[in-house]
Amino acid sequence: MPVKIITTVSEMQNYSRGFSKAGKTIGFVPTMGYLHKGHLSLVKKSKETCDITVVSIFVNPTQFAPNEDLAKYPRDFERDKKLLEETGCDAIFFPDSAEIYPDSFQSYVDVTKITRILEGAYRPTHFKGVTTIVSILFNCVKPDCAFFGQKDAQQAAVIKRMVKDLKIDIKINVEPIVREDDGLAMSSRNIYLSKEDRENALVLYKSLTLGKEMIEAGERNADKVIDAMSGRIAEVKSARLDYIAIAKAETFDLAFKLEPGKSYYMLIACRIGATRLIDNFLVTV
Ligand code: PAF
Repeated sequence: MPVKIITTVSEMQNYSRGFSKAGKTIGFVPTMGYLHKGHLSLVKKSKETCDITVVSIFVNPTQFAPNEDLAKYPRDFERDKKLLEETGCDAIFFPDSAEIYPDSFQSYVDVTKITRILEGAYRPTHFKGVTTIVSILFNCVKPDCAFFGQKDAQQAAVIKRMVKDLKIDIKINVEPIVREDDGLAMSSRNIYLSKEDRENALVLYKSLTLGKEMIEAGERNADKVIDAMSGRIAEVKSARLDYIAIAKAETFDLAFKLEPGKSYYMLIACRIGATRLIDNFLVTV
C-alpha cells in the first residue's frame, strides 16, 4: 500500500482520531528525515507493536542554535518516502515550518534539570526545542506508543521525564543503536564525514569499547574509566572532545562510583574534523 503523506495538523489529527475510534493503536517515530537503518529499525519495532505506524519528517528549527547546521541539514524526501514505503509505514506527517510554527507561535516546553548537563551544557537551547516539537508532534499524531533511538540517550531520558512530569499518556520505547559493520553508530550526520574523518570517527566506538572492557574487568571508579577513554580519543589528532561521561541510566545523574547491579550510560560527544558526533554504550555493572 502506498504510504499516505499528510502535511497539515488538522488532517493528521483526523487521521489518527479515525484509527483510535476504530480501536487501533498508533505507533509514532519522530524523525528529521534523511533516514538510515537506525530510523527504519524504529519503524519496524512500531509495526511489531502497534496497528498503525506514523513517521514524522520535520527538520525542527527550534532545536538548532544559530551557529549549528539547520540550513545544511541533509534532506531527501523522495528517498525517505521510498524507504518508508518499503518498510510498511502507513503515514508520513510532513508539515512545513509555517504549519508548526506560525508567526503567532509563543509556547515552549522546558524540562529544567537533566537538560542542563552534557548535551545541554554544549547546546543550551537544544532540548527546549526538542521537547517543544515532540509535544507538538504528540498532539498532532496522538500516538499510543512512540519510538526513540538510544543513540540520543539523553534526548530519550528528557522525553521520558517530560512524559512523566506532564502526565502524557504515551508509552516511550527506546531502541538499541544500529551500527555500521565496523562499529560506527548510524547517524544522518555521518554524510558530512570525509573519507579520512570516517576512519577517524571510529575512535568513538573504540573508546567506548575500552571503557566497557575496563568495567567488565572490575574497574568501579568512573573517573579512571573516563581518563582511559579520553586517552584513546586523544590518539586521533583531528578529534576534539566535548565530553566523556558516565551517567546513571534511570536518572541521567552523573556517576562517580559504579555500583553492582546498576545500569549506566557511557557517553561521548566529539568533533571529528568539522562534524560533531555522539555515541554511547549502555552497561550493567
Ligand atoms: O532525534 C531527532 O531526530 C529529533 O531530535 C526529533 C526527536 C525528531 C525532534 O525533532
